[in-house]
Amino acid sequence: MACGIDIGGSGVKSALVDLTTGTFIGERVRIDTPEEATPEAVAGVCRQLLEQLQVGDDVPVGVALPAPIVHGTVPFMANLDKSWTGVNLTELMREHLGRPVTGLNDADAAGLAEVAFGAAKDVPGTIIVTTLGTGIGSAVIVDGTLVPNTELGHLEIDGYDAESQASAGQRTAQDLSWKKWAKRLQRYYAHVEMLFSPDLFVVGGGVSRKHEKYLPLLDLKTPIVPAQLLNTAGIVGAAYQASRTRTS
Ligand code: BGC
Repeated sequence: MACGIDIGGSGVKSALVDLTTGTFIGERVRIDTPEEATPEAVAGVCRQLLEQLQVGDDVPVGVALPAPIVHGTVPFMANLDKSWTGVNLTELMREHLGRPVTGLNDADAAGLAEVAFGAAKDVPGTIIVTTLGTGIGSAVIVDGTLVPNTELGHLEIDGYDAESQASAGQRTAQDLSWKKWAKRLQRYYAHVEMLFSPDLFVVGGGVSRKHEKYLPLLDLKTPIVPAQLLNTAGIVGAAYQASRTRTS
């Protein structure tokens, strides 16, 4: 058993996870992301969540953040408070939670969860998991090994940051039809496919629930399937990684 915390733009969510099945033990708890989502404010929310779940000191805790985490530190933050830049997540959480945590990127967490328990379970080769939300997150996993912090949502395509054109958030913000949005996804996935020649794409994020509206419109050589864990993937992946990399 381990605990996962998933920090998102609208909510911070946590649960205890059974690592044999990748399912929650008990309920998931959630607190709105503070309006000013500074590192201190968010760490305070994480502490409250651990208290609500009564997570014991011996339980590994993983924290997923919507930013790359390079040796514990956040080099830049695209869609949460900019004051996260340069923060050492591991030290921040140790101060506020009084225990060691494992920090990782949110899409990396989702990717690990899909490989361990979901749509990419037992699939050999190169798997690319993308999460379509406010931004575009990516996880590249090769024969079970994660290449962390790939940030493929920020590929520059046709002069634009890819997520500023093709994220699910942009579909809503620009009121795009599924067909128009699928055209943008086509451009995006075809480019990633050309660069990586993956064996499988897995599409996560809230909008993967509506996959039948846009996945059939895509024309790629690579199989592309919806994620299976949906909104539990970030928490499950964070818990999974914490249990594998526990430090004291
Ligand atoms: C961030 C990534 C994150 C993705 C999804 C991007 O803007 O740079 O780190 O994984 O959004 O949240």
